[in-house]
Amino acid sequence: QTVSVSATASHPIPTTLWGQMFEDISVTPNTAASLNAWSAINGGQISVVADSVPVSNSLPNSLRFTIPAGRTGQVGFANSGFFGMKIVASSTYKGSFFVKFPTVSSFTGNLIVGLRTTSGSTVVSQTVPIRGASTSWQQINVSLTPRTTPPSTDNQFFVTIDGAAASGQTINFAMFSLFPPTFKNRANGMRNDIATALAEMKPKFFRFPGGNNLVRSLVVPISCMGQTVPTRWQWNATIGSLLDRPGRAGDWGYINTDGLGLLEYLLFCEDLGMEPIMAVWAGFALGGTSVAQNGLQPYIQQAIDQINFVIGDPATSAPAARRAALGRAQPFKLTYVEIGNEDFFASDTYTYRWPAFVNALRGAFPNLSAPLLPFALPAASLIYKSTEFIATSNINSPVLSPNPAQWDHHVYQTPSWFAQNSFFYDDMPRNGVTFFEGEYAAISTNPNDIFGSPANGRLTFSTMQSASGEAAYMIGMERNSDIVFAASYAPLLGHVAGSQWTPNLIAFDTGNVYRSASYFVQKLFSTNMGNEYIPSTLPSRTGTVFWGITRNTATGEIVIKVSNTVAAQANLTFVLPFANVATSGSLQVLTGAATASNSPTTPSALAPATRTITTGKTFTFAAAGFSVNVITIKAS
Ligand code: AHR
Repeated sequence: QTVSVSATASHPIPTTLWGQMFEDISVTPNTAASLNAWSAINGGQISVVADSVPVSNSLPNSLRFTIPAGRTGQVGFANSGFFGMKIVASSTYKGSFFVKFPTVSSFTGNLIVGLRTTSGSTVVSQTVPIRGASTSWQQINVSLTPRTTPPSTDNQFFVTIDGAAASGQTINFAMFSLFPPTFKNRANGMRNDIATALAEMKPKFFRFPGGNNLVRSLVVPISCMGQTVPTRWQWNATIGSLLDRPGRAGDWGYINTDGLGLLEYLLFCEDLGMEPIMAVWAGFALGGTSVAQNGLQPYIQQAIDQINFVIGDPATSAPAARRAALGRAQPFKLTYVEIGNEDFFASDTYTYRWPAFVNALRGAFPNLSAPLLPFALPAASLIYKSTEFIATSNINSPVLSPNPAQWDHHVYQTPSWFAQNSFFYDDMPRNGVTFFEGEYAAISTNPNDIFGSPANGRLTFSTMQSASGEAAYMIGMERNSDIVFAASYAPLLGHVAGSQWTPNLIAFDTGNVYRSASYFVQKLFSTNMGNEYIPSTLPSRTGTVFWGITRNTATGEIVIKVSNTVAAQANLTFVLPFANVATSGSLQVLTGAATASNSPTTPSALAPATRTITTGKTFTFAAAGFSVNVITIKAS
């Protein structure tokens, strides 16, 4: 196959093209039991009680700890973390909790607070004095720096007290928090190794907070989880002191603490240089409950407040003043707001919810821009590009009024579906309407049971076959990036010991991060974007090998991407029309067997390799079976 390349670009590549979609998903099911992960040490009695004087209105329950009579030695309780705890020598673990005696006591003594192995060997501890005379809540902060690294991640946080000295005492505890060093040392911040993997992708945007976790669920019985209007994600319940975050029964079968809240999302966007694509809840919950048209106003106001928290002027907006009180007077950048998520599940009511929300939000934010503020800001950060709001039902089905200028399209399919649909956007009209591919992934090899079980074709980890199919589709989106302004694989993160959805872009456990084949494809595309698209001979719509070409005018490089979605090698001869073309270029290639994947047992089965290849005005490139390739050539 000969590929003739045009000398001139057809369109700029949107700077937002490749990014990330995040929602609280794929952690652990079965956490409804309030003492999940907690255990007693040496006969300590623990229970969860509705406290008559709780630590805060948002956190009405306490952990009640009673030291039975007759105990000797240290008595207490432990928490085993999130499937264990990685403890590393010389890292400082910051812990805090609240403590009070429910009734006055003459007791004075010490708590021992620390980290230990599950077999009970203390790794590091700190002594904290407490007094029974105090019946009001007192916050305890500890700073734990172990000198050794335990051999396994099977570790615990613990609190103990001398059993004989404290015999018969009852003590209440609340709002435990323990953090290892976080990414960029942010409070309530991200796990360093996971955030580093996300940062290495050089994502251009971050879509949050969902996904189903904003609205509804596919997998959890409606009766048991947070899929009601009152338990929807609410921005104002996710900000400020952890004492003021009640958490919620999330849509994926477990409790969201909301310790990762709106402000943390926004700061993470800035830390990684990503634009937020922020969703607002749009009046639809569960598998079918829509707020009636005449009842929408409070939810619309909540959406306006959410946006004002992000971009408003503290002098005129209470939510923005709240942001300023939390230490962030300057508005964040916000160009994209999505109204709902997958509202094709309630398209009959989206026909009134969409206009109600979009008209009100357009009225409140005519340019969705950061308002001019009285304090000093660099001029460029004052006004952001105006935008339209993003609709989430099926494209033009039903027809919405006002007509959305931006749609969010989602697809979960087989690897071959993605290859066969590399031309999905080519036939869309060029009428000013643009598209966000907010979720996509090849998740099953079984077209008849896409969302089924691994026994029936569902992928647990992405494979070279699924990743090359996704790359074919991404080549199509890059070609159509005059109308596709952003795209994100979904879901982003999944704990290997407890997930509701597979595959995820990145898998992790207590000690490790596993970058998937799809992760490497996303990273290859995002770190080799170019800034303009160069047309070339089109691949066959029904073929199995796909290519696309961009140019980076800053570096004077042509970037050729090739995805081969089958086992047979494909030979492509590129004909470049430029006067000067380097005789060698760089090839980054991800390749492997169709079913190869990175997992805890094969963590490094797949990784891109880089090598130099012969190039020129005309050169032939052999794309290995099941491979994703990025060729970079100096050309002018
Ligand atoms: O990404 C997993 C889920 O798939 C999202 O929460 C939802 O939007 C979609 O159905």
